[in-house]
Amino acid sequence: MFAASADFTPMNVCQNIKQLREQIGEWRNKSESIAFVPTMGNLHAGHMSLVDIAKQKAARVVVSIYVNPLQFSPDEDFDSYPRTLEEDLRQLEMSGVDLVFTPDSRMIYPDGEQQSTFVEVPGLSNILEGEFRPGFFKGVSTIVLKLFNMVQADYAVFGEKDYQQLLVVRKMVEDLNLPVEIVAGAIKREADGLAMSSRNNYLNASDREKSRLISKALQHCRDQIEQGMVIKQAEKNAVDMLINHGFTVDYVSLRQAHGLARVSPEDIKTDAELIILAAARVGHTRLIDNMKFVITATT
Ligand code: PAJ
Repeated sequence: MFAASADFTPMNVCQNIKQLREQIGEWRNKSESIAFVPTMGNLHAGHMSLVDIAKQKAARVVVSIYVNPLQFSPDEDFDSYPRTLEEDLRQLEMSGVDLVFTPDSRMIYPDGEQQSTFVEVPGLSNILEGEFRPGFFKGVSTIVLKLFNMVQADYAVFGEKDYQQLLVVRKMVEDLNLPVEIVAGAIKREADGLAMSSRNNYLNASDREKSRLISKALQHCRDQIEQGMVIKQAEKNAVDMLINHGFTVDYVSLRQAHGLARVSPEDIKTDAELIILAAARVGHTRLIDNMKFVITATT
């Protein structure tokens, strides 16, 4: 028989800041720590793994669900982005989340998202994803800062699936002295290696089958670099592998894991923390992935 524990409280779902602040204030008064997981909803096991990390970190867990128009350019998928609130709430309730914040755009951007004060992290925001999605990281950093100010959490958990986003958020927190600790969660993958993503829902059966090649191309690139292949050649081989299977490739790029600077041959040495990042389109669906690795022996 189900017996509610003494501290069982049903999950709270709120749409406005006043309710949010009241609840957060109550927890703060009791000196309960708070961990926050910002999302755009359509939750999958990747998101839920961040919720698990949040639960380990703090007494209370807050998840936000908000599809942020400021991080989509006019030709992107803001309108068609999957919105599955009921199912999301069901999953969050089952996993013991305390509060779900589901604001709407009238509240987040009362004067419209283009008329709102914004924050932008220089440098990091303009490379890789930022080069192919101008304005994307301005949108991300602005909404994340706003959400941090609303939720006032001790911890915020982000996935390494969006590795550059994680670094942009970390730098914003450091540069603006925000009192929140950023915690990273590893990439969750499907059985065939495809990184879980809400955008995987867009794939038809044949594109879904092909999409596993992105992680394969990254693995192959990593192996070749470990074996001493010239970086540009290893990157090109990965790009060619994807193009040959019908992908349109934005980039495959080897970088320093800390800060995403380009890697020179001298950097390929024992204990160097490197990362290969990729973005490619299959059909109409743009997917990103990355693989971090440490060179364990000089070649
Ligand atoms: P969204 O794409 O919903 O992702 C929310 C969080 O889940 C991000 O930190 C993302 O890196 C993480 N995540 C997604 N797929 C993952 C996977 N396969 N494994 C591990 N973590 C994964 O990222 C955003 O939303 C937005 O940009 C947001 C930060 C909410 C700002 O609008």
